[in-house]
Amino acid sequence: MNNFEFKNPTKIIFGKDQIIKIATEIPKDAKILLLYGGGSIKKNGIYDQVKTALNGFSVEEFGGIPANPEYEVLMQALTVIKEKKITFLLAVGGGSVIDGTKFLSSAALFEGDNPWDILDKKIATLQGMPFATVLTLPATGSEMNSGAVITRTETKQKLTMGGPGLFPVFSILDPSVVSSIPQRQIANGLADAFTHVLEQYMTYPIGALLQDRFAESILQTLKEVAPMILKDPSDYKAAANFMWSCTMALNGLIQKGVPGDWAIHMMGHELTALFGIDHARTLAILAESHYTYNFDSKKEKLAQYAERVWDITEGSLEEKAKVGIQKTTAFFHSLGIKTKLSEYTTDYEGTGAEVARRLEERGMTALGEHQSLTPSDAAKIVDMSY
Ligand code: NZQ
Ligand code: ZN
Repeated sequence: MNNFEFKNPTKIIFGKDQIIKIATEIPKDAKILLLYGGGSIKKNGIYDQVKTALNGFSVEEFGGIPANPEYEVLMQALTVIKEKKITFLLAVGGGSVIDGTKFLSSAALFEGDNPWDILDKKIATLQGMPFATVLTLPATGSEMNSGAVITRTETKQKLTMGGPGLFPVFSILDPSVVSSIPQRQIANGLADAFTHVLEQYMTYPIGALLQDRFAESILQTLKEVAPMILKDPSDYKAAANFMWSCTMALNGLIQKGVPGDWAIHMMGHELTALFGIDHARTLAILAESHYTYNFDSKKEKLAQYAERVWDITEGSLEEKAKVGIQKTTAFFHSLGIKTKLSEYTTDYEGTGAEVARRLEERGMTALGEHQSLTPSDAAKIVDMSY
């Protein structure tokens, strides 16, 4: 096991009817900016619950943060933060609203001239404006981590940012919110969280027995609840397990002491930037090609995954490892997610080369757990996903 340090300061408030607790967690003298997305919270009652909890607080609002949070929209929110002298941000939404809020938390205290530098020059955020979240869509884990992904449509860029100053102060996780989520977004959440675990697990054995079993237990739980939650999003037991699995998949715990891959995410962000494909679906497009292309360096973990998550007991290590890849693709299909780029766009020719060019431009020339994947390898993996 590798050496590690672990600190996650985010307070989780989990369960039914917990949104009201915002009132006891935010300082009474805070000047709050409530941030949300395209308006789903106004239809499913979450907005009303938040407003009730904020009764008596000083609150401004900023709605309209789109999926794949857009830099230009966030800059409008930054103006509100400055003009209204906001001191506390409250994100009510999924990964996009939370990530957008993280950018604002950083940009609000940024001392440079151009907030785009936070993303473009990869400036780590050591201190941000305090913020909290009310999660409406289990998927990204953003509610308990310090990373964010921001899109700039003008330049077709989707860039990551983060730093120890970007953990939410607290996050409210009420599984009841799952009942209003459309099937497409539930499927996305399951696929995103599943792949988050794979990115931190499907590397090489390093003697981290507990981390392996944490990871496998999250995969097993997602696999078990997926059909239940797709059939009935108001199944509270399934929703609660789905929600907590998504948070645990990317709150740092399972990454500690083990190598991480993340190549699927880095290539996937380019597919979203180029074609607007939902984040989770880009991961489903790339997973099989990535694991097939890197079969030799990943086969031990692939076989262990096949055995422990998919109960494959027959065959050689290589045979089990191959079944592990097939089972992963079949899992995405069981969620109704297509796994070929050509099923999302007819304009896919040349995508491998374009992804490689973009990774090169960004200095991302050493991907994967061995930092051995070059842009030319990425091009081949993307080509295999057509
Ligand atoms: O905008 P609204 O009206 O809120 O509707 C949203 C949006 O259309 C809707 N929705 C959310 N909660 C709902 C609901 N509809 C009905 N009922 C509810 N309770 O769902 C749609 C998608 O929302 P979005 O926030 O975009 O989805 P998700 O949570 O999957 O977030 C995706 C974004 O997170 C980034 C992705 O790249 C993408 O930009 N990621 C962030 C990560 C992180 N910060 O750690 C890691 C991930 O790997 C990922 O990259
Ligand atoms: Zn993801």
